[in-house]
Amino acid sequence: MMYSLVRSLLFRLDPELAHDLTIYGLSALKGVLRLLAEGKKGKPVRAFGIEFAGPLGLAAGLDKNARIGSLWAAFGFGFVEVGTVTPRPQAGNPKPRLFRLPEREAIINRMGFNNEGMERVRERLLRDPRVVPIGINAGKNRDTPNDRAYEDYIAVMDRLYDLGDYFVVNVSSPNTVGLRDLQRGESLSRLLGEVYRWRRGKRPRKPVLLKLAPEIEGEALEEVARLCEGNDMDGVILTNTLKVEGGGLSGRPLFPISNRRIEEWRAVSSLPVVGVGGIFSLRDAEEKMGRGAVLTEVLTGFVYRGWDLFRTS
Ligand SMILES: Cc1cc2nc3c(=O)[nH]c(=O)nc-3n(C[C@H](O)[C@H](O)[C@H](O)COP(=O)(O)O)c2cc1C
Repeated sequence: MMYSLVRSLLFRLDPELAHDLTIYGLSALKGVLRLLAEGKKGKPVRAFGIEFAGPLGLAAGLDKNARIGSLWAAFGFGFVEVGTVTPRPQAGNPKPRLFRLPEREAIINRMGFNNEGMERVRERLLRDPRVVPIGINAGKNRDTPNDRAYEDYIAVMDRLYDLGDYFVVNVSSPNTVGLRDLQRGESLSRLLGEVYRWRRGKRPRKPVLLKLAPEIEGEALEEVARLCEGNDMDGVILTNTLKVEGGGLSGRPLFPISNRRIEEWRAVSSLPVVGVGGIFSLRDAEEKMGRGAVLTEVLTGFVYRGWDLFRTS
């Protein structure tokens, strides 16, 4: 079926309602998704010591609670990043908090890490028939002060350690007050130092990546690179949404900005990059790989293009 038909129905609904209905609908179709997923033959890609079923994954934020989990592979995704997951469940910001900008093929969101918490996500991932690798994107609860934020990130990664193929320290959402301060100087140094100490005792070693905002550039980006390298991080995800009035902007307008960040990063560090922001076709994903990304992710492009995204070039 053409996704454009499905989209014309979904886009008549409030965006968050359309999202929730999609997730519930797909949950009811898990048997079918599993068959489809197992029948997919992608081009495997090796990165971070893991074999991914394809170079384009689902970005964090669409399946925050791992309700579909690795079964998103049915549409063509080579891996799935669930979350952001916080230690305790939280409601997020008041609604409405999700807005489509169809003329710009963009979305503005200020969800605020609404999620069911790490215990529910653990239960779901334990039941998950694993068909492609799963990344777990960790965040802090809203009421955890920044000087104790590391406790939340470590709590989530530790509790879900056996269930994730890679982990993400997400310090770049514009919708949790003060979160982005963790991307800089002393705060980031402390956070990554604590993550480093925690990981020393963990076996097997699994990749941990840092997800950054598109506003981090120039000297700030170089400083982040030195801190990542000094604390044995495995790579970065570039980028999260761009802060605008009303929330974070994603989709088409982010494409050139996140591409520039990938190139900038490659110029200052050899740590691998996962490229995300504004992908609307496989060709867009290839362009990010051409600029130096080892893997790519998409969210907004999938809302606009659905499974057709994997067919168009
Ligand atoms: C509705 C929505 C919710 C998101 N939630 C999260 C999140 O919980 N954690 C996160 O790291 N990124 C989140 N993101 C950011 C995406 O993972 C991605 O970095 C960003 O949207 C750029 O990619 P895109 O242009 O393909 O959407 C969210 C994005 C959107 C649109």
